[in-house]
Amino acid sequence: MMQDTRALQVAVVGTGYVGLGTAIMLAYLGHHVVGLDVDENKVAMLRRGQLPIYEPHLDQLMLDSGDRLRWTTSYAEAIPDADVIFICVGTPPLPSGQPNLSYVADAAQSIAGHLNGKLQVVVNKSTVPIGTGDWVARMLEEHAPDYHEGRYLVVSNPEFLREGTAMHDSLYPDRIVLGSDSPVGIAQLVRLYEPLLDQSFEAPGYVPRPAGYTRPELVTTSLSSAEMIKYAANAFLALKISFANEIAGLCEWVDADIAEVTRGIGHDQRIGPRFLEAGAGWGGSCFGKDTSALISIGREYGYDMPILAAAVEINRRQRQLVITKLQQHLHRLKGKRVAVLGMAFKPNTDDLRDSPAHDCIARLGELGVQVVAHDPIAMPRAREEWRHLRYHEAASAEAALHGADAAIIMTEWNEYRQLDWAGALRRMRNPLVIDTRRVITAALPVGTVEQIGKRAPGVLVHEASA
Ligand SMILES: NC(=O)c1ccc[n+]([C@@H]2O[C@H](COP(=O)([O-])OP(=O)(O)OC[C@H]3O[C@@H](n4cnc5c(N)ncnc54)[C@H](O)[C@@H]3O)[C@@H](O)[C@H]2O)c1
Repeated sequence: MMQDTRALQVAVVGTGYVGLGTAIMLAYLGHHVVGLDVDENKVAMLRRGQLPIYEPHLDQLMLDSGDRLRWTTSYAEAIPDADVIFICVGTPPLPSGQPNLSYVADAAQSIAGHLNGKLQVVVNKSTVPIGTGDWVARMLEEHAPDYHEGRYLVVSNPEFLREGTAMHDSLYPDRIVLGSDSPVGIAQLVRLYEPLLDQSFEAPGYVPRPAGYTRPELVTTSLSSAEMIKYAANAFLALKISFANEIAGLCEWVDADIAEVTRGIGHDQRIGPRFLEAGAGWGGSCFGKDTSALISIGREYGYDMPILAAAVEINRRQRQLVITKLQQHLHRLKGKRVAVLGMAFKPNTDDLRDSPAHDCIARLGELGVQVVAHDPIAMPRAREEWRHLRYHEAASAEAALHGADAAIIMTEWNEYRQLDWAGALRRMRNPLVIDTRRVITAALPVGTVEQIGKRAPGVLVHEASA
């Protein structure tokens, strides 16, 4: 823990997946943090010591942050005393593909009204289009009652955490990117992140420091470069997955196995093994939104981005491929009962945003399938957010599989890896599993297991692009 003289007063505006992780991590490092949200229910839960999201170890880190952490709905309470103010509100996509910046605008205006006239740094952690930092600065200028240039500094500090491993990613990041046109703003953030930069904090036992990890790289840039770094990073990861999926489609034709192929290319250090897993496509709150945003930013300048557009199209095709495989085995889907295992867009999170399982359940419903869905963590959230979908909840994976005509594994939860698949297949009406995440690794005595990117007779990937 840092000496208290180095501790800063921090306000974190928006307590979603990013804001909560940021607030709790900074308090753990020794800063005094107030987390602010307009959602009164969230704040009430947090005040009771409950987390509104599922993220491994976040609850323990919150407990270990002690009384350095407070929660409020009041800008008047959070902002005036803060040395550093993080904007972590959502930037969901509009139908045009552009991000909705209204939450950022509301947050910036509300912050401006309570700035204290002394040096304060406003940090944009939300993922926002290039130029938003300047736009936020203008908003502070317009709405701060006592505005003086040089006092309210804007820094872009994009977030790279992955849901499911957010605490690990926050405490042991690969890099910290700080973009600002003000050296004073950067210096204040370097001071804030000092315990991370020199790794001087005591690593919690439940999120140990990885062997060999020394410190994150500090990357300081202009404001606009930092904003671009976040989009470029997500776009590159999305297209890496789409590339693997495109090769996987051809593997099925030529009788190659995509897992062997990506293992073979991943050992090339110029390529690397990660984010090359073929499957039902990427999802989550960021990749779809950020690739669309980047394409639409390009469009503003009359600049085409064909590689990114193709990555998005391949992802759409990949989601349809799951249904196509099912049709090829079952022929008529109407009236069939299909178990969908996994609803969250990836394991170890309850986040359902842009989850491939959503599109799968929706499409199966359109085709007259009776869907029985299961997820170890995300079912309560789905009850709220997926009310428009028609499916039955199963109390367990086994219950979902019982009597089913087919199963589709959409999320690689450990629980599904550990299932007695041989037994479960015997209890299905028709033992067919479309395993989009390579959960089943052993040969099974009964049934058919179909995976992505391995030979499967008659699988036509060109159908979906028509
Ligand atoms: N979720 C991720 O894995 C991730 C990773 C990196 C970056 N990001 C980016 O971080 C940002 C936040 O993402 P998230 O997933 O945490 O979103 P989220 O929807 O989980 O949380 C946003 C929070 O902001 C609150 N909010 C909205 N308007 C507000 C206002 N005016 N004042 C105070 N609070 C307000 C909402 O009530 C909500 O609790 C987005 O721009 C996202 O692209 C997300």
